[in-house]
Amino acid sequence: MKTAVVMVLLASMPVLAAEIDASSGLVKSPGWEQVRAHCGGCHSHALVTSQRADRQTWLDMIRWMQATQNLWQFDAATEAQILDYLVANYPPQPNRRRAPIPPSLMPGTPEPLQ
Ligand code: HEC
Repeated sequence: MKTAVVMVLLASMPVLAAEIDASSGLVKSPGWEQVRAHCGGCHSHALVTSQRADRQTWLDMIRWMQATQNLWQFDAATEAQILDYLVANYPPQPNRRRAPIPPSLMPGTPEPLQ
């Protein structure tokens, strides 16, 4: 019974339910095998998963690696799959920093004088 409740909760939380590939750290969603195959040979996949960008910026990074880092060319279908995957799973996040800690929760907050 409890298990069923947990399963329903997990299923309704897609972000938590997203499966992560243990060896690459990539989110397992459509296109991830292409990214595993093409994007981990020169640097860690962590460089990919720690990046956030829109489609054009992902494409710019790929073009930069192709122009300067010997990244190979992709056929159009493969490139589209890779970009679809990157934008779906690692989209831009304008504010990735946490909110400031409220002063009342900071250490050493002086007690009000009685
Ligand atoms: C042929 C080698 C090679 C392959 C394959 C490769 N990269 Fe890179 N990539 C590099 C190099 C070199 C750098 C620069 C690393 C550094 O700055 O330390 C880089 C940097 C990056 C960065 C950081 C860019 C930045 O501005 O900080 C990202 C993100 C990235 N690559 C994503 C990818 C993705 C996505 C793929 C697959 C489509 C890929 N890489 C495949 C060589 C490669």
